[in-house]
Amino acid sequence: MNILIVDDEKKLGVLFSRALRGAGFSAKAVETGERAIESLEQGFDLVITDMKMPGMNGIELLRKIKEDYPDTVVVMMTAHGTVETAVEAMKAGAYDFLLKPFPTDELLLLAHHIAEELQLQQEIEYRRKRERERFGNIVGKSDEMKQIFTLIEKVAPADATVLILGETGTGKELVARAIHERSQRAKKPFVAINCAAITETLLESELFGYEKGAFTGADRRKPGMFELANGGTLLLDEIAEMPQSLQAKLLRVLQEKTVYHLGGTVPIPVDVRVVAATNKDIKKLVSERKFREDLYFRIAVFPIKLPPLRMRKKDIMLLVENYFRKRAIDIEVSPEAEELLTEYNFPGNVRELENILERALILSGGKRITPEHLPDLEIAIAESASVEPGETTLGELEKKMLISALEKAGGNKSKAAKLLGITRRMIYTKLKKYELE
Ligand SMILES: Nc1ncnc2c1ncn2[C@@H]1O[C@H](COP(=O)(O)OP(=O)(O)OP(=O)(O)O)[C@@H](O)[C@H]1O
Ligand SMILES: [Mg+2]
Repeated sequence: MNILIVDDEKKLGVLFSRALRGAGFSAKAVETGERAIESLEQGFDLVITDMKMPGMNGIELLRKIKEDYPDTVVVMMTAHGTVETAVEAMKAGAYDFLLKPFPTDELLLLAHHIAEELQLQQEIEYRRKRERERFGNIVGKSDEMKQIFTLIEKVAPADATVLILGETGTGKELVARAIHERSQRAKKPFVAINCAAITETLLESELFGYEKGAFTGADRRKPGMFELANGGTLLLDEIAEMPQSLQAKLLRVLQEKTVYHLGGTVPIPVDVRVVAATNKDIKKLVSERKFREDLYFRIAVFPIKLPPLRMRKKDIMLLVENYFRKRAIDIEVSPEAEELLTEYNFPGNVRELENILERALILSGGKRITPEHLPDLEIAIAESASVEPGETTLGELEKKMLISALEKAGGNKSKAAKLLGITRRMIYTKLKKYELE
């Protein structure tokens, strides 16, 4: 804690500041209110000022401090017989007052007390800030992620089908879980199935279950994912990879809210909220007739599109901090390493960031991450920066510059224009030219 003593009696100022320094604080003494004002820019947490001083008196100084540095704590020192002014000082925002003469121990006790209180306040403030920058397990302080948090909050209790879109590693599964956890179904199961990872027949039997003898190897009756998720939420991950024949069956289940086991004839009612996720451009697949349009409309009731990490660079260092904190690792990231991390474009998004950090952690030995622990990033950034004539055309280059400026500016067109040194109007023209809107 940084303390400023203001007393026109030089001897006292020296005495107090020395005692405070002896107790581990950093302290400085000045002799007038005017000098105190000048010193405040250096940043003091606590000002202990005498009341009666030639020139600016203690009350005047207090008022000025409260105006310009409202967070600075002020303690008044008053002599006997000026209790009324002490009351006035308290009203004007003084934290406490010391009645002169007082033993230095009393001063130290008060300073320690204030230091503790300030630290507590800082911790509370820090936690509040952290809370604002996260949504359950999902962290983000960019406007893009804040919008996502709002969407999740709105859709979670609504029980609607949700389609989560976004590049690989952007946190689609995390969002699906957050939706489940904030719905009325939270206490019921959350079941996830990856539609891309298994063969068509296996996927079908996994989803809908089967009767004994339904196929070779079906030596017992087995419930499907829909039944296992009953009352809860079913995440159909990589939905775009689902074979067409299964898409038709899935649509029927969604509409009728009943499933039939493979080889079964008895309808089984299921109450399941479906959340689907994909990193594919599913709309395009629909237009190419690779994904059933009717199923698309059934699941795309409420789409949530997760922005790629390169469009929300503000979140990168927050994710870095979060990654190490959730694993209870105390490690420093050098400013140069931070620069590399924020410059890199992360085609694999948060998952790639986590892998890079994992590797850097091992390479660094766990104390401090520097650029040498991020070798791939340096290469990738260097490669994307240098181009030779013949390798690309001017138009291509301009398009690339536009994209990267937009990314750097977080999608803000005015900022991007500034980065490129062109007018706002020009950027709109160019965006149109390259069909980047
Ligand atoms: N906003 C975030 N805050 C904290 N962790 C995140 C965030 N986004 C992603 N992660 C982490 O990144 C990793 C990848 O996230 P997730 O598996 O949800 O991505 P995905 O979009 O489902 O990827 P894929 O398309 O490859 O399946 C996970 O370890 C997840 O915890
Ligand atoms: Mg996933």
